[in-house]
Amino acid sequence: MKRVAVLVSGRGSNLQALLDAEARGELGATIALVVADRNGAFGLQRARARSVPTDVVRVRDFATREAWDEALAARLRAAQVDIVVTAGFQRVLGAATLGAFAGRILNIHPSLLPAFPGGLHAQADALAYGVKVSGCTVHFADQNVDAGPIVFQRVVEVREDDDADSLAARILAEEHRALPEAVRLLAESRLCVEGRRVRVLAPSPSV
Ligand code: GRF
Repeated sequence: MKRVAVLVSGRGSNLQALLDAEARGELGATIALVVADRNGAFGLQRARARSVPTDVVRVRDFATREAWDEALAARLRAAQVDIVVTAGFQRVLGAATLGAFAGRILNIHPSLLPAFPGGLHAQADALAYGVKVSGCTVHFADQNVDAGPIVFQRVVEVREDDDADSLAARILAEEHRALPEAVRLLAESRLCVEGRRVRVLAPSPSV
């Protein structure tokens, strides 16, 4: 079983979707560690409720962002992690973590990238722009924010009576389906990256 670390900063509903998929036997991987960048992240409680080891690695405890990133990478390596998922993690990973887990880090973003990248307001931005559809994107993380090769996108309609919360809730339901599916495919070594394009390989006969 591949070992997955999930990095969270807050609510952790995507982490919960991953934990639930694992409990149903649908993740094809083990969530071995949950790391937060702050003590109060509710995701830590979700992990503890399932007896998943947790850790907090705070930027403020290090002299530089590079030192923080190196500590994070060391923690992930010590837990013998194969796959890293950033799920509502409000930090940009640095060279140490990106290098140690190149091609093995997935991020979830609540818009159809490359539209509305970054920050905590992708859903409000989509609404303000007046787009008629939005959705979520699961993509590989690289050194640029919300920019790596795209694994999945799921589309939702934008309704005339939507506000940012109602649109976010509709997108979140898709996030909770797309992220576990992407983790499973990566754990099964079925994601083939060619430049910016990601192909999903057929399951091997032995799977
Ligand atoms: C999600 O909308 C995710 O796409 C974005 O931040 C939010 C995190 O939600 N990156 P949660 O913490 O998983 O509930």
